[in-house]
Amino acid sequence: MLFDLKLVETTYSKILTFETINPHIKNVEYAVRGELAIRAEEIKEELAKSGPGKFGFDTVVNCNIGNPQQLLQRPITFFRQVACLTEYPDLLLPENRDRVKALFPSDVIERAQLMLKQIGSVGAYSHSQGILFIRKDVAKFIEERDGYPSDPSNIFLTQGASTGVQSVLQLIIANSNVGIMIPIPQYPLYSATLSLFDAQPVPYYLNEEENWSLDISQLTSSLSTARDKGLNVRALVIINPGNPTGQCLTEQNMREIIDFCHQQHLVLLADEVYQTNIYQPTERPFHSFKKVLRSMGSKYDQFELFSFHSVSKGMIGECGRRGGYYECTGIDKQVIEQLYKVASVGLCPNVPGQIMVDLMVRSPKHGDKSYPLYQKEMSNIYESLRRRSIKLNELFNSLEGVSCKDAQGSMYLFPRIYLPVKAIEAAKAAGKQPDEFYCLEMLNATGVCVVPGSGFHQEEGTWHFRSTFLPPEELFDGFCERLKNFHKEFLVKYNGLKTI
Ligand SMILES: Cc1ncc(COP(=O)(O)O)c(C=O)c1O
Repeated sequence: MLFDLKLVETTYSKILTFETINPHIKNVEYAVRGELAIRAEEIKEELAKSGPGKFGFDTVVNCNIGNPQQLLQRPITFFRQVACLTEYPDLLLPENRDRVKALFPSDVIERAQLMLKQIGSVGAYSHSQGILFIRKDVAKFIEERDGYPSDPSNIFLTQGASTGVQSVLQLIIANSNVGIMIPIPQYPLYSATLSLFDAQPVPYYLNEEENWSLDISQLTSSLSTARDKGLNVRALVIINPGNPTGQCLTEQNMREIIDFCHQQHLVLLADEVYQTNIYQPTERPFHSFKKVLRSMGSKYDQFELFSFHSVSKGMIGECGRRGGYYECTGIDKQVIEQLYKVASVGLCPNVPGQIMVDLMVRSPKHGDKSYPLYQKEMSNIYESLRRRSIKLNELFNSLEGVSCKDAQGSMYLFPRIYLPVKAIEAAKAAGKQPDEFYCLEMLNATGVCVVPGSGFHQEEGTWHFRSTFLPPEELFDGFCERLKNFHKEFLVKYNGLKTI
């Protein structure tokens, strides 16, 4: 029988309102682009309109997000040269040969020709899992890094690591009773995605006193609490090197984590996007979970691991290109087919992003024409990041009521702040978390935009903020001075440091 489709209302009411949309979307929080970032944009606009007069500073410094090129990090020449020729292949026609040869080294031209031969046009859809030629290069890169085999059919190219993480979480979250173990503090991609897919976060706390290390006892107690509540805990997320905490796991610790997952029947998600941002390479080198897993022998052959990587981080910083990949280890073939099916619903990851992944995993080698410049650019950025991490860490530790662990890796510092009682009261009166209040005052006074610790979740009763150390080196002293003066004035304004 057909419904009677007569007009039910005389006045139009919106179908989509805040009340009627998907409630899981409303539950999503993403502090990295939250209130502070919005206020920073407003200030930028005001500065552009009326100049620095009102503020006492003339630029907003976005330390809220690990976005190196926004803070003027220069792209690596080789990557952009190849990208340029693949975008505009007419430059490779015989009539342009001499001009192009004068502008581009021969290995750039050869690489672009090779890519175009494999890909066709960057304007065409590719294989949904990513171009096979590039996946083969990724597999080779993983094999050379780890010393263990990697299969291109287990690799998915993605638009940054974010979409990979989302696809894998979507796969694991079979219903709303599924729990996923996430670190606290954590990168909000995880809590936000769990909200979106209506799963339950199972938090485990990193140990700040021990440089944000990961204690297995924490994993055990957090898992048993969740299982006691009846949750079906299916996976553990590890971010290594850490964001926002910057810690690097020891190999021994990683073995314990693998053992824990094995015993407790958990899938491991290893977020390794900062694998080349390692600032204490002798004491704290990077080990991939794949390598450590394979070194543990055949007992772990069936272990299920997803490992994520990205072109956004390292010394590359090509965040806007949206390139990344994940590797499935020990994942059932039928499950991979389902991942492929879902990837094909989105057609394919963007092709320029895939090209960037290829360049990351097959960078110039000793003897290549582009190698000396490539090597120089990469090591300059690396050394500069290391210097800046140390400088900012020293600054934070010199401030009254602030303590900060050093960055063993990644792009962030996560200082703990002890706030005056009066500031905490003022925050409450303003309806804000104390760390959010502190960060807003910092932004309004200095133009420096950081993210309050509450955005990453933190141990109750503690307050932190996350700052990248990405501002350019030539501006770094001025930037540190602004922060130092602000902090002093904040303490004076709120009557000194009578901490809670
Ligand atoms: C730990 C971690 N994982 C994943 C991502 C996602 O990065 P992208 O999607 O740009 O690769 C980020 C970005 O900051 C991150 O810090």
